[in-house]
Amino acid sequence: MKIIQVSDQLEGGKVAVDILRRKLAEGAKTLGLATGSSPLTFYKELVDSDIDLSNLVSVNLDEYVGLTEDDPQSYHYFMKENLFSHKPFKHSFLPNGTSHNAEEETEAYNRILAENPVDFQILGIGTNGHIGFNEPGTSFDSQTHLVDLTPSTIEANARFFETIDQVPTQAISMGIANIMAAKSILLFAYGKSKAQAIAGTVSGPVTEELPASVLQNHADVTIIADAEALSLLNN
Ligand code: GLP
Repeated sequence: MKIIQVSDQLEGGKVAVDILRRKLAEGAKTLGLATGSSPLTFYKELVDSDIDLSNLVSVNLDEYVGLTEDDPQSYHYFMKENLFSHKPFKHSFLPNGTSHNAEEETEAYNRILAENPVDFQILGIGTNGHIGFNEPGTSFDSQTHLVDLTPSTIEANARFFETIDQVPTQAISMGIANIMAAKSILLFAYGKSKAQAIAGTVSGPVTEELPASVLQNHADVTIIADAEALSLLNN
C-alpha cells in the first residue's frame, strides 16, 4: 500500500487528479466512483481540469434503497451535482435504489461490472472501516448485494438528512470482491474519526470485521490522507 499524506482535503483532491492523469495515460477507460464528503475535492478539481471524461465509463459503488434519482439525498443526485452535470461520461452506472426487485437489481449490476471492469476505483472509508456500504462482517467474496446499514453508519450519515429517521436503512452496494477486482484503487481519508479505521486498514489483521483491511491483499492501492486520519498509524 502506498500512503500519501496531504495537508488537507484540497491538496488531496489535486494529488488524486494527478494520479488519475497517469492512469488515463496508461489506458484506464472505466472509473469506479464513490460518494461521501471525502472525494468531493477530487471531483471539484476534476471538473476544473482539462480532463475529458466523455469517452470513459463510470460505475458507482452504491445507492440507498428507496430514494429516487432526483431525491437530493440520493447518490444519483450527489453524482449529478458534483460531477456528471459538469463533465458527463460516455455512460454512468449506479445501482437503482427504487427497483422493486432488489435481487434482480444486484444481479443486473454484477453483469454491468463484468462488462465494464474497473480500471481505477475511488473509495472513502466509514468510521467502522466500511467501503462502499460493505459493513463489518461482509464476506470478502461478496458481489453486489442488498445491505442492512448498521446503526453506526446510519448515525454517521444522518448529518446529510434533516432527521435520523429519514436516513434509509438499506442500500445496494458493490461487494468486496467487486471492489478488489479493480486494477487500481485510491482511498481518501480525512479527520480523526477515520484514524482507527485507517490504522486497521494499513497495519491491522486482514479481517472481515474491518472490511477495508482486505485492501492489504490488493497489488495497487494508494491512500490519500491527512495527518489526523494517519495519527494512529505506527511510524
Ligand atoms: C458512506 C458511503 C461510503 C463513504 C462513507 C464515508 O457510508 N457509502 O462510500 O466512504 O460514507 O463518507 P465520508 O467521506 O463523508 O466520511
